[in-house]
Amino acid sequence: MLDDGFRYALPILRIGVRSLMRVLHAAAELFPWVKTGGLGDVVAALPPALAAAGLDVRLVLPGFTAFLDAFPLTEIARLRTPFAAGRVRLVRAQLPGSGVHAYVVDHPAFYDRPGSPYAAPDGHDWPDNHRRFALLGWVAAALAQGADPDWRPDILHCHDWHAGLAPAYLRAEGAAVPSVFTVHNLAYQGAFPAALFADLALPASFFSIDGIEFYGGFALIKAGLFYADRLTTVSPTYASEIQTASFGMGLDGLLRARADVLSGILNGVDPLIWSPQNDPLLPLRYGVDDAAVGKAAAKAALERRFGLTGAGAAPLFGAVTRLTPQKGLDLLLAALPGLIALGGRLVLLCSGDSDLEAGFAAAAQNYPGQVGVVLGYDDALSHLIMAGSDSIVVPSRFEPCGLTQLYALRYGALPLVRRTGGLADTVVDTNRVTLADGSATGFVFDEETPEGFLAAIRRATALYDDDVSWQRVMRQAMTRDFSWAAAARQYVALYRQLVSNSG
Ligand code: ADP
Ligand code: GLC
Repeated sequence: MLDDGFRYALPILRIGVRSLMRVLHAAAELFPWVKTGGLGDVVAALPPALAAAGLDVRLVLPGFTAFLDAFPLTEIARLRTPFAAGRVRLVRAQLPGSGVHAYVVDHPAFYDRPGSPYAAPDGHDWPDNHRRFALLGWVAAALAQGADPDWRPDILHCHDWHAGLAPAYLRAEGAAVPSVFTVHNLAYQGAFPAALFADLALPASFFSIDGIEFYGGFALIKAGLFYADRLTTVSPTYASEIQTASFGMGLDGLLRARADVLSGILNGVDPLIWSPQNDPLLPLRYGVDDAAVGKAAAKAALERRFGLTGAGAAPLFGAVTRLTPQKGLDLLLAALPGLIALGGRLVLLCSGDSDLEAGFAAAAQNYPGQVGVVLGYDDALSHLIMAGSDSIVVPSRFEPCGLTQLYALRYGALPLVRRTGGLADTVVDTNRVTLADGSATGFVFDEETPEGFLAAIRRATALYDDDVSWQRVMRQAMTRDFSWAAAARQYVALYRQLVSNSG
């Protein structure tokens, strides 16, 4: 659970709530209750940061049991929707920790299911996902049009394909509420066969290339990209990359056509969850000045946990990641013999692709004492790895923003990343120039090959040998500021433009 009390003090002058700009965020995940990746972290941190910037922000979420069981709920309305014979309950809660209000779409037939938010325990996506997330988009659009008589947003802000249909419903209903759609990952599209389009209760004309049609079927992400008034993604570099055929996942043409309303706003780090100075999950808390002591304690805990031996002259590398082609962990697996030959060690917390899971499990067997692997999801261990590792590797093929390299910077685990998306925007490679001007914070490589990755591992190992330089770069990494306040300022500017354009 998050800390009690408000995470960001609201300036007292802003209590005149009526005049505040109201923004409703629609999303499927919210840390700590529902999280499959960085989306959950962002949805937990951005609304409170926007509230601290003077906005009146609320959330709307699908009624997963993790939400319904977590906080006391008040019924707001019973809605007749196109997706259920009976009425759907709309309930509201005040989130513990942030104090932000969240609407929850309570419809057990859709959301009270085992497995992940999107898939059954066997890993297969639920066949009615289009209807499960159409309901979320439909309710978000209904809230934008006054479903809660006491609170109506000026702007609807939708995240990823799960909420992509909301701008389409607004358009279909002729609602004038402006909308923002944020792409956290273009690879997840919510694509379905054409035969299911009728289930969405949208006008037939929306099934068009100028609409939600996508390669003969339809995609919920395309609804967001086509109908929202403004598009954002989570880093400036990814905003440019997705307009190219190599990163556009079939949507680059649309994104180029909408380039004038597309921008990149970097994610931040939630300081209440990710600060080594006050992280209760570490054996010893530390700041910039006592990092050596704090990190040594965390490293010792990692060594015990993973049975690592033989600390050598090379770094302890770590990674905390989903195993998908995006993350490039196959490069790490292929480069592992080289990493070990240099005297490096590796701790890995990961889950996903079964071949990669088997590959890393075998590596842990083959290199006892040097490679430790935990397959699964473990929030506490993820913090320990950030603190105890010397370097966190993120060899992604593409990365919209990436949060683990931001956490690594704060925890003084120099990130070793591929130059793509948000990784390119947040990590400064260590070389003669950046060492001299004090900007170096990690290691960046270009080639999408095990050799390219290993060359960066070699450079990291060489720097590690020079303790004075390593400590200097670590200090620089730990003092880089990736705050949500900076991101919130940019979203507020974008909202202001939208409201003044539509007003
Ligand atoms: P993505 O959203 O693409 O997975 P990000 O770097 O933005 O990548 O966010 C990943 C988030 O999920 C981070 O908070 C990371 O710590 C967390 N995470 C990923 N894998 C695991 C795991 N196996 N156990 C615990 N946390 C994990
Ligand atoms: C996605 C992206 C990741 C990003 C996260 C939060 O899951 O893969 O790069 O940091 O969303 O925006």
